[in-house]
Amino acid sequence: MAGSSGAALEISGLDAGYGAVRVLEGVSLHVAAGETVVLLGTNGNGKTTLMRSIMGQVRPSAGSVRATLDGRAVDLAGLAPEAVVDLGIVLVPEGRRLFPRLTVEQNLRLGAFRAAARATLEGNLALSYELFPRLAERRAQLVGSMSGGEQQMVALARALMSQPRILLVDEPSVGLAPILVARTMEMIAEMKARLGLTVLMAEQNFHQAVRIADRGYVIVHGHIAFEGESAAALQDNELVRRVYLGL
Ligand SMILES: Nc1ncnc2c1ncn2[C@@H]1O[C@H](COP(=O)(O)OP(=O)(O)O)[C@@H](O)[C@H]1O
Ligand SMILES: [Mg+2]
Repeated sequence: MAGSSGAALEISGLDAGYGAVRVLEGVSLHVAAGETVVLLGTNGNGKTTLMRSIMGQVRPSAGSVRATLDGRAVDLAGLAPEAVVDLGIVLVPEGRRLFPRLTVEQNLRLGAFRAAARATLEGNLALSYELFPRLAERRAQLVGSMSGGEQQMVALARALMSQPRILLVDEPSVGLAPILVARTMEMIAEMKARLGLTVLMAEQNFHQAVRIADRGYVIVHGHIAFEGESAAALQDNELVRRVYLGL
């Protein structure tokens, strides 16, 4: 997507951690408007910390996070998570973090908690049900009684309710059977196409992630260890072959 429309993300020289624990060191990556980029990494390498740094939930100690929204550059440093969401940057968190004792529809309505999203709530609810017909059938079901795959649908639809431009998805494959992981990837791709999103997805499931990723990065101990300009370039990388493909 060239020109001034679309939403892009640029992270540069980012350091972040928790108190004395340094997790990210000098992380730079970018996601161009309309791209799907995967951040590959096994457990404990800093994927979630990076996602939370973008959202303003973790305060970086150095570096920058910038978004470009329809040609307008916005520095995300120091913004509260709510303000980041208001810009249209929305995270589907690891483990989904739904309200299990509320219904599907109650969970979705809670996704539109920001003033900007409330104005378009009914339209986005209709769009969620169109995109995920299963959720329309199950709108009155308690989320805690749904399967993992269905819960991931709720988590994606809840993100849709906050009117995203840039969707961050943190390990959507966690806890799902392989067939459901594949379906989840398809749902993300479909939602992206339908809403014209820009997507950054953290994953350790290489095979499933590259089904929808345009390109990606490998993160090891809080450093970007490799940048692959295409899914094929990732597949050919020695580190990826050894760690993620077992070759
Ligand atoms: N709240 C926290 N306090 C202290 N250390 C944390 C916290 N969250 C994560 N960490 C540590 O940061 C490192 C990276 O974690 P994380 O970003 O969750 O990695 P990933 O998502 O790739 O599994 C790990 O060593 C983890 O133990
Ligand atoms: Mg994580």
